[in-house]
Amino acid sequence: MEQNFYDCIDCGTENCPCYLAATGDCLVCSRLAGKDYCDCNWKGVCIYNEFIQSGKKINNVREEFTAKVEENKRYGQDTVVLVLDVGRGFALKCAKPGSYVFLKRAEDEDFYNIPISVMKSDITGGKIHLAVKEMSAKSKRITEVQPHFEHIDAGTTDSAGKANENIAGSNKRENIGGEDSLCVRGVYRNGILGIKSLIGPRGKVDTDRKMMIVTKGVGFAPAAHMLEWIDGRARADIYTDTDKIEEELIAEYLPQRLNGKRENIDLRREFEFKGTERISALYKAGGYDTLVVFASDYYIEQIGKILKIDARSNNFRLCCGEGVCGACAFTDDFGRTFKMCKCSGIMPTESF
Ligand code: FES
Repeated sequence: MEQNFYDCIDCGTENCPCYLAATGDCLVCSRLAGKDYCDCNWKGVCIYNEFIQSGKKINNVREEFTAKVEENKRYGQDTVVLVLDVGRGFALKCAKPGSYVFLKRAEDEDFYNIPISVMKSDITGGKIHLAVKEMSAKSKRITEVQPHFEHIDAGTTDSAGKANENIAGSNKRENIGGEDSLCVRGVYRNGILGIKSLIGPRGKVDTDRKMMIVTKGVGFAPAAHMLEWIDGRARADIYTDTDKIEEELIAEYLPQRLNGKRENIDLRREFEFKGTERISALYKAGGYDTLVVFASDYYIEQIGKILKIDARSNNFRLCCGEGVCGACAFTDDFGRTFKMCKCSGIMPTESF
């Protein structure tokens, strides 16, 4: 009998059992996947028992809701940070590294939904900060949405008493009666493949680790979020490739409590002109035991050829996030198919 080899990021959470239990496709429970025996490796509360006892109920379906855009700040040509008012409960759920949400405009069809990593979760204020790179139609639709505010005359002050030059400097544009909200669905958890190996299922940071974190472009967003969670409890040095991201954004969102250093790295030069020596040398010289890469599949593949990657950005095509549509499917060398929006235990490093 082959033992179940899947590891589901939602297993044992408030969102388990999910749709896959109802359709007979649970990734972890063989009985909820149509078998008449149990071969699961799961050490928590029995999913089968939970599902049957609750009258075959799906737990806490992730409903779409409307969140006000509190800020829309542009960095450079094509990167926008959106701050959404989601409430404290939701912001708390977004605090774990690897959290992401789906966004779209209320008037748009569901296929406009776009997955965006949480860059910062402000639990006290009930807000989340998301860095959006304008790539094409979907991302441009959401970055157009501005916060609501009244027209501001030069030389006056706003209700908080701030001088209006500051407001003009924060990229706000007049938006009276315009669309000022976005539809949010989440929270989803599998934005970082391998995250469980870094912080454990209960979110405990392994303080003995010495991490090298490499980011390129908006890959900085999940890194900033992870560093916020680590909160200086483990050594973590971050190497940022600023080719496609503004220095100003990094300066604003790099957590202050950083137990480590920040350096810039030029990945294109690393791999096109210098070979692979420098990144290997950096890893060895730093005495790191953990490598985390938030970059495109191309660079993950290049780095994966020379160093073992422990965690990486989930760049698979996330569409429903629920393990239902199959858009994120990955088939390994043994012919096994994984739904990468749910499966957290495997970490392909080839490009797809
Ligand atoms: S995104 Fe739909 S199955 Fe993974």
